Amino acid sequence: MSKLWGGRFEGNTDEFAEGFQSSIGFDSRMYREDIMGSIAHAHMLGAQGIIPQEDADKIAEGLRSILGDIDAGKVEFSVHDEDIHMNIERLLTERIGDTGKKLHTGRSRNDQVATDFRLYMKRMVDETTERLTVLCGTLVDIAEENTGTIMTAYTHLQKAQPTTLGHYMMAYFEMFYRDIQRFLDCRKRTDVLPLGAGALCATTYPIDREMVAGELHMSGITRNSLDSVSDRDFALEYLAAASICMMHLSRLCEEIILFSTNEYGTLRLSDAYSTGSSIMPQKKNPDMAELIRGKTGRVYGDLTALLTVMKGLPLAYNKDMQEDKESAFDAADTLKACLRVMDGMLKTAEWKKDKLRAGAGLGFTNATDAADYFVKNGMAFRDAHAVVGRLVLYCEQQGKALDELTLEEVRQFAPEAEKDIFDAISLETCVHTRNVPGGPAPEMVREHIRQAKRLLGEL
Ligand code: ARG
Repeated sequence: MSKLWGGRFEGNTDEFAEGFQSSIGFDSRMYREDIMGSIAHAHMLGAQGIIPQEDADKIAEGLRSILGDIDAGKVEFSVHDEDIHMNIERLLTERIGDTGKKLHTGRSRNDQVATDFRLYMKRMVDETTERLTVLCGTLVDIAEENTGTIMTAYTHLQKAQPTTLGHYMMAYFEMFYRDIQRFLDCRKRTDVLPLGAGALCATTYPIDREMVAGELHMSGITRNSLDSVSDRDFALEYLAAASICMMHLSRLCEEIILFSTNEYGTLRLSDAYSTGSSIMPQKKNPDMAELIRGKTGRVYGDLTALLTVMKGLPLAYNKDMQEDKESAFDAADTLKACLRVMDGMLKTAEWKKDKLRAGAGLGFTNATDAADYFVKNGMAFRDAHAVVGRLVLYCEQQGKALDELTLEEVRQFAPEAEKDIFDAISLETCVHTRNVPGGPAPEMVREHIRQAKRLLGEL
């Protein structure tokens, strides 16, 4: 079988080299985009009188029947035809005869692959943001049930101040909501049609690029033909947004893993999202969370791989760029799967509210509030800080919490203390009085939840 580009060749491609340079093994997943792009191109060629209308119709019909057959699993692609573009063109010509040979008029595989890839990545963006939206909804649900569930917040992984599980979950909501925004932003620049750029310097045919963009539901056309076939920054943007999103997932995983240790014991993963040990009968491991954390490295690798592929390329198309797709596909597959697993894991996990509360009562999480108490009674903050520091040291020596001291004991360090200090440093007060926007006070978190629901509804 001769190559579609074989005219100027006398010899055959080396068999191993043929397999080496073929991309059908991974670009076949863009078959729908390739066919829809070709149908739109054919319609345009017909409408512009570049090919007869009946030929355009015949091509479109042939392509639609190929699409149906691929969907039904009836088509086998061949390495000989290199990539999805030439496989489909070959199938078309086999199916409708010589008319099929007119499809490639006024276009090149270079603008074709750029079009297919953009359409495909747009779909990946949509599928990713859908999953992110579901996850954000789950975080909001957990937050809503836990605006009064007191827990420890940490800095340096040392107990810092009390907060609530609701406040905590909404922190992750914010991160994932920004991820959604990043993907939607990347979508805008992905959703632009490069077809019409030809191999690199456009074409002499009177094509109508706007018509093609309209049929493909793309928001516009690219402005420079060289750029159209040369850059893959839309895929890099997806990969960058995916890497950031994986980083967020990975941090949440790290906490899930920590919280479900015996030492913390504040979270219990459901059996559906845990695995056992082949030797230690007691084990219930947070493998899903660990694996998501691990896959973060893989997605960073995908980003680094494509950045590196692109960095030294002269304009315009170079075959190096065929390496763009596997990185992007792998990142999209990985991220979507991780988002799904994370959502299920969170939905089914059980938070140990008593343990969360008890933990927040240890480690002097209310020390800042004790200092603030003295400040409100006229002491300079730096002096109050020192007084409470000494109180904490005393507590440690006595094995007591701040609120377990007697007033007399407190007064040895700060004669100005009154009985109301104990109310001022109760965990409930600590949380409820942090009622500034963004703070953990239940009313503030409830307001945040209302906003979050509105934002998700607007997506
Ligand atoms: N399979 C190729 C790719 O993915 C399609 C474009 C090929 N163009 C070319 N001039 N060889 O990049």
